Amino acid sequence: MNNRMWGGRFAAGPDATLEEINASIDFDRHLYRQDIAGSKAHAAMLKKQGIIAAEDAQKIARGLDTILSEIERGEFKFKRALEDIHTHVEARLKELIGAAAGRLHTARSRNDQVATDLKLYVREAIDGLDRSLAELMRALAEKAAAHAATVMPGFTHLQPAQPVTFGHHLLAYVEMLARDRGRLADARKRLNESPLGAGALAGTPFPIDREATAKALGFDRPAANSLDAVSDRDFALETLSACAIAAIHLSRFAEEIVVWTSPAFGLVKLSDRFTTGSSIMPQKRNPDAAELVRAKAGRIIGALMQLFVVMKGLPLAYAKDLQEDKEGTFDALSTLALAVAATTGMVRDLEPDEKRMKAAAAEGYSTATDLADWLVQNLKLPFREAHEITGKIVARAAALNLSLTRLPLSEMQAIERRITADAAKSLSVHRSVRSRTSYGGTAPRNVRAQAKKWLKRLQREPKR
Ligand code: ARG
Repeated sequence: MNNRMWGGRFAAGPDATLEEINASIDFDRHLYRQDIAGSKAHAAMLKKQGIIAAEDAQKIARGLDTILSEIERGEFKFKRALEDIHTHVEARLKELIGAAAGRLHTARSRNDQVATDLKLYVREAIDGLDRSLAELMRALAEKAAAHAATVMPGFTHLQPAQPVTFGHHLLAYVEMLARDRGRLADARKRLNESPLGAGALAGTPFPIDREATAKALGFDRPAANSLDAVSDRDFALETLSACAIAAIHLSRFAEEIVVWTSPAFGLVKLSDRFTTGSSIMPQKRNPDAAELVRAKAGRIIGALMQLFVVMKGLPLAYAKDLQEDKEGTFDALSTLALAVAATTGMVRDLEPDEKRMKAAAAEGYSTATDLADWLVQNLKLPFREAHEITGKIVARAAALNLSLTRLPLSEMQAIERRITADAAKSLSVHRSVRSRTSYGGTAPRNVRAQAKKWLKRLQREPKR
């Protein structure tokens, strides 16, 4: 069968392999809503500009509504031979309303059509991600407020470094996610120019009104260069980059959940709702959701890399290569949405083991810096000298197999005779976190204020 949309100059139908490699309907059917919305805006504009008759425009609009509900009810028949969503909609429109359907494609090409559809799709996905990232931030900030004073070990090199509060740790992710939302918002702003009306590549001789279709579809303005309009995919690259960075943030948090819930650490517990069992080892509680969130970053980064490679070296304007922009983009957007939802669920679910956290916070001489700071503040020693003395004290404690809090004062005084009992107080993990009141520091007072600030900010923000 010749393709009804472009078969005019062809004597024979396509080879089966061509049909298979050329067809995009299996994935671009996801664009049906955007495609129909674009066609409705286009038809209304053609009518208003006197390019098609009002009667035809009305038939077209009604036919498009029928198609929309047919697809939504699952009654629409998709066929490989019809290539893509654009030709499917037009072919069905012809069946429904006859010859008038043929007027819809006046002053339009599938090239500006598909660019418009994909932009609308990506824009909607950005809005959805923005809402769910805000939800995740809220869950994190709520948990942080509840655990503003819960002491946990802070790590560098995954070695005990200094005690921090659990709330502070959670709020670190709130900061990252806020930047992720900022990047998505930036991408959305730049994306929001309408390709519709660019035609195949050069514009059109018809007196179209691109401002009108742009406005009808929620774009800020029409894209200014028709060649760019049909071949730009950097809106997808930019969105995928923002998604990849967000996915990396989620994967870092997921990794921490995996580590924290391992009995060897035992810092955090997930309930039955977010753990799975093993088919052979009855004792197991596996953090599968966290592991999958950790892994999903791979797919999302993969989609970004794939599109980078597709775009590299592609001459202007449209080339069929651009059809390869969709599967990875769709997959990455829905994968990130799922990963955000799973992470939100885990944040709400997880509970720290406060006793274990506190004990672990004191392990590994984590308050040694506090002792060094005491020497600087009270004995006016230069920090380097204080560091050296504290190092010796830690070595002595290690040799005696004692924690710093258990090390007798006399042992410390043997190394620096001016150390007093007050110094020993600086070794408590609670005092350590309480003392870190510098802006951005881990002191419970700071954490409480930051959590409150975020919760207020998130509550105030306008819903998109
Ligand atoms: N399915 C095509 C795509 O996704 C639509 C545009 C086709 N344009 C063309 N000149 N063949 O890119």
